[in-house]
Amino acid sequence: MKGRIEAIVGAQWGDEGKGRVVDSLGSRVDIFARYQGGANAGHTVIVDGTKYVFHLLPSGMLYPCKTCIIGNGVVIDPDQLLTELRELQDQGKDRARLIISGAAHVVMPYHKLLDRAQESLRGKGRKIGTTGRGIGPAYVDKYSRCGIRVEDLLDGDILREKLEYNLEEKNLQLTKIYGGKPLSFDEVYEKSLQWGKAMGPYVGDASLVIDEALREGKNVLFEGAQGTLLDIDHGTYPYVTSSSPIAAGGCVGLGVGPGAVDRVIGVVKAYCTRVGEGPFPTEDTGPAGERLRENGGEFGATTGRPRRCGWLDMVALRYAVRVNGMSSIALTKLDVLTGFDRIAVCTAYLADGIRHDHFPSGVSLQEKAEPQYIYMEGWKEDLTGCREYSELPAQARAYVEYIEKTVGVPVNLIGVGPGREQTILRNF
Ligand code: GDP
Ligand code: IMO
Ligand code: MG
Repeated sequence: MKGRIEAIVGAQWGDEGKGRVVDSLGSRVDIFARYQGGANAGHTVIVDGTKYVFHLLPSGMLYPCKTCIIGNGVVIDPDQLLTELRELQDQGKDRARLIISGAAHVVMPYHKLLDRAQESLRGKGRKIGTTGRGIGPAYVDKYSRCGIRVEDLLDGDILREKLEYNLEEKNLQLTKIYGGKPLSFDEVYEKSLQWGKAMGPYVGDASLVIDEALREGKNVLFEGAQGTLLDIDHGTYPYVTSSSPIAAGGCVGLGVGPGAVDRVIGVVKAYCTRVGEGPFPTEDTGPAGERLRENGGEFGATTGRPRRCGWLDMVALRYAVRVNGMSSIALTKLDVLTGFDRIAVCTAYLADGIRHDHFPSGVSLQEKAEPQYIYMEGWKEDLTGCREYSELPAQARAYVEYIEKTVGVPVNLIGVGPGREQTILRNF
């Protein structure tokens, strides 16, 4: 029997709780695979009270005897990857087998410098608020066909040739445009060779490994990073990341055909957050937003920045359902809404006096969008101990069922706390 592929995707602006959903579903998965993004991601997993934050490693690394893949669509900062791996090894927790696609691109030291230099040149009002992890510049090089791939780190001659060309150009940019210092070829070359040595044993063919596993009846989970509204094509451009977090990105970023994905699970936070700049129609900058930030611990897992907070946005969610082909929802952080007398839900936008039921394209309309709210009754009960759907208070169930009915997608998983077991599975 052929195995199944399920894709976990962020339905909002990232940090929906993708890492914890992957972890909570882990026992039924054989292969965990990251397909895009890089160390801009921060995926938090809490097991037996211990917190792990994964930036590049898939969130399945804690599961013994499983396989974790970093696909060709990911951009890899080797220092970050090797540090993450070493930290897990020191704790004896690097339990899964790791495979890194040779075709994945490398985030080089100049990418990080350029990312930061470009952000500061953009100045106030134009900043994207990137994580400074070199993501944009690394994808620029990939698409302009001068990028260095993981497999290039394994061959000193190829590496030398590619690095010479790149450094010549990047040093010009760093010094002449941004007024910085040039990087030394010898230092970067030496470091790159060391990275190649350390990563070499993990390099493999991700697409082939997945195909063979499926033929053996094994189950594969794609782990998206970021979220739909940060997608380079479908997000709130230019306030986006430089990859395709949507489900289709999984096929490109791992070398799998589009018909092979059996289920797309959208991870939806019970309210909304965003880090960095850009439109956020339901943002609440008042006391309610502050309360969501405090109750939800909404501070970035990668940069520590406070996350902007606001209410659930059904216009954006309907859009995320459409562009991902979402067939299932994992609703996280429902427990964080405990204690609110009423819960606002945005059902449409008004912009220039015109009603929008569908997420508008273009940042100027998105910025003008005034959310039209309905209010749902809140609840006072603590949800963190609930393990069955029937244990949730009636108002919480009404909230879940309202979401299902409005977007026409079942909520099959509910997060009632950050721990692996604080999960309600419902007709999963
Ligand atoms: P990701 O990037 O989508 O994996 O999400 P992050 O890890 O960046 O942010 C999600 C945060 O919410 C983390 O601190 C998680 O531990 C926490 N979290 C996830 N699910 C739940 C939940 O159901 N309830 C609560 N209270 N916290 C959660
Ligand atoms: P996870 O996987 C939330 C945001 C940044 C910035 C924009 C571009 O943990 O959900 P980049 O460094 O990618 O060029 O920054 O995207 N961003 C994220 N926001 N969660 C993430 O990842 C993010 N990765 C990038 O804040 O606004
Ligand atoms: Mg995160």
